[in-house]
Amino acid sequence: MSDVAVRRPDAAGVWRERDAELVSPAYSRYSDLVVDRALGAHLFTVDGRDVLDFGCGIGVTNLGHLHPAVVKAVHEQVDRLWHTSVTSLSPMLVEACAALVSVTPDGLDQVFLNNSGAEAVEAGVKLARRATGRTEIIAFTGAFHGRTYGAMTLTASKAKYREGMGPFLPGVHHVRYPHCFRYCTHRSDEECPIARGDEIENLFKTTVPPDSVAAIIVEPLQGEGGFVVPPRSFLPRLREICDEHGILLICDEVQSGFGRTGRFFCVDHSGVRPDIMCVAKALGNGLPIAGIVATHAVMSTWQPGEHGTTFGGNAVACAAAVAVIETMRSERIPERAANLGQSVAKRLRGWKDEFSAVGDVRGLGLMIGIEFMRGHEPATDIAQNIQRRCVERDLLVLTCGIDDNVIRLLPPLTIGEDELDRGLDILEECVRKELAG
Ligand SMILES: Cc1ncc(COP(=O)(O)O)c(C=O)c1O
Repeated sequence: MSDVAVRRPDAAGVWRERDAELVSPAYSRYSDLVVDRALGAHLFTVDGRDVLDFGCGIGVTNLGHLHPAVVKAVHEQVDRLWHTSVTSLSPMLVEACAALVSVTPDGLDQVFLNNSGAEAVEAGVKLARRATGRTEIIAFTGAFHGRTYGAMTLTASKAKYREGMGPFLPGVHHVRYPHCFRYCTHRSDEECPIARGDEIENLFKTTVPPDSVAAIIVEPLQGEGGFVVPPRSFLPRLREICDEHGILLICDEVQSGFGRTGRFFCVDHSGVRPDIMCVAKALGNGLPIAGIVATHAVMSTWQPGEHGTTFGGNAVACAAAVAVIETMRSERIPERAANLGQSVAKRLRGWKDEFSAVGDVRGLGLMIGIEFMRGHEPATDIAQNIQRRCVERDLLVLTCGIDDNVIRLLPPLTIGEDELDRGLDILEECVRKELAG
């Protein structure tokens, strides 16, 4: 059936119909492109379109589709061993853990591997509770940590994710993330009270005694919440608060990790070492692999059997992860993202002066967001229309933000400069057309 459908001239339409019939409507798609092949920064559709991919499967294919080093590693492993789970030890699992430890901040030196970002977050929270003997967890509004029950309870980027699905995990408290563009009135050279930790201190004073808190979980650069870059003082201040009260700091690097922000991990910009770090997405460049990396002291509070997984540490996914990390180091991918990101940000900041609807341009490396506003109100329609226009012009960009009014750019970190420019040209034309009315 699939070959027949692919060959028909209306192939995309046929697949869309079958999708609507067979696939859960829960998937909320960014486009109706029907993609069956990809290479580098290009998606190829069943009806012959060649689409520039500035979404990377939501921050996953950071090395571009089918990076040859990853393809080679996967091919070799496929012919050797796929899966043993906890029935035995696996050299490839050890190699993947060693590779991860070699790039995470010093002191984060033991790993638990699983399959998705949400699972990594669940593991982080379980470990924090186990290690501290405490129950409460502090998270931030605008956060996205996944869709399983624990992770969804921490997620606070859209109320619709929760509608009709409670009750949720007990012991979770949200305070505001320092999204200065939306929440703050202080001048840019003044200290941000949210970044200073005022809301957390208030929580401690009024509702949650600090010695009941197991962990603070934070995205060092908020992803789904709108590509929000916090003030530089924020992470160091969280570290201080945690140290003062014996609280563990969990950094969720699921979207911001693996070179995306111009450093291997976003926390590297601040020098802050979390106690537990969650990784996923780009670790396998498209194969499902995720995990937590923690200090020995914290990880060793888990005894055998206190956490587990069937598929986590699958040998093929581990082979991909080792190749991803080696390639990122040898091709100096974080540095590349930093350099390309600077020129993209410079170009986009010019739009802020030119178009009143471009409220803010922000990001680090090649994780860049453009927030659209109509006066003081979020302009969701403008962002959505621009996204749709881009897809029509064969450029796939995504939106994000608590109001879905941010266009986010997540091109492959390996993208050629000419392709990057071409994508930005298309985006600029679409912004101009939309804002011309
Ligand atoms: C920061 C962050 N954490 C966790 C997740 C959940 O990851 P997954 O969809 O692999 O469960 C995401 C997914 O977008 C994310 O951006």
